[in-house]
Amino acid sequence: MKLVICGKGGSGKSTIAALLAKSLVKNGSSVLVIDTDESNFGLHRQLGIDLPPDFTDYFGGKKTVLEKIMQAEPDWESVSFFEDEWSFSDIPPAYCPEKDGVKLISIGKIHEVGEGCACPMGMLVKQFIGNLRLNPDEVVITDTEAGIEHFGRGIEENADAILMVIDPSYESMRLSEKVAELSGSIGKPVYFVLNKVDGANEQFMRETLEDRNTVIAAIPADSSLSLAGLRGEEIMTDKAEIKHLWQTLMEN
Ligand SMILES: Nc1ncnc2c1ncn2[C@@H]1O[C@H](COP(=O)(O)OP(=O)(O)OP(=O)(O)O)[C@@H](O)[C@H]1O
Ligand SMILES: [Mg+2]
Repeated sequence: MKLVICGKGGSGKSTIAALLAKSLVKNGSSVLVIDTDESNFGLHRQLGIDLPPDFTDYFGGKKTVLEKIMQAEPDWESVSFFEDEWSFSDIPPAYCPEKDGVKLISIGKIHEVGEGCACPMGMLVKQFIGNLRLNPDEVVITDTEAGIEHFGRGIEENADAILMVIDPSYESMRLSEKVAELSGSIGKPVYFVLNKVDGANEQFMRETLEDRNTVIAAIPADSSLSLAGLRGEEIMTDKAEIKHLWQTLMEN
């Protein structure tokens, strides 16, 4: 199963990605988390893993990847970074540290002023997800940067399902309409995860969401998660809602 997690900035995408990864491995899955957020540095810490080198470097680095794409203009979509399908074991270990059954790849961060945009990394990750051949017990969780630019890069096209994390804010609720529309346009199922909720706002969110049937989980505001996030600590919490979430996904 290949999942993409999206949502508004700060809604809890990386937290849900880490909770989900840890819960899945506890129940026997093998999990690869792909960090595609070029700006943030929280996810690897939430997983308790040192930040791996940019996966883009394995393909020569961001500039080389961009040059390859530019050389193919106007047929840039024909550029291929993968000759064959890959399985988890084909991923170079130096770019894919593992802890307790969770593997982590970081597509690449922005390191310097003027080094260019993140689009080459977007094209690379889209192809990478598309070229991964999974065994039934393997799960890929792709954590994205805030907003919907990754839809523009087509990353969701190679996913089986999209999880949108919605925090109690007007912006998140509004964004959910767009995410549902974009997901629908490429024929991908979208599921909503309400996050940081309490009784009152959860009820409002469920009642207000256009397609409330797609709410797959509601994670309460949790001070231990918030403190771990603040300290940059590994998430050790195990949530029943998260287990129920992936069990529902696997049934569908
Ligand atoms: N259910 C929760 N209860 C309390 N705090 C939470 C919860 N979920 C996430 N947080 C906290 O909210 C903050 C933002 O979470 P997180 O980094 O996962 O969001 P994000 O959507 O990945 O953000 P970004 O868009 O910057 O990548 C973190 O400090 C995290 O610990
Ligand atoms: Mg994040």
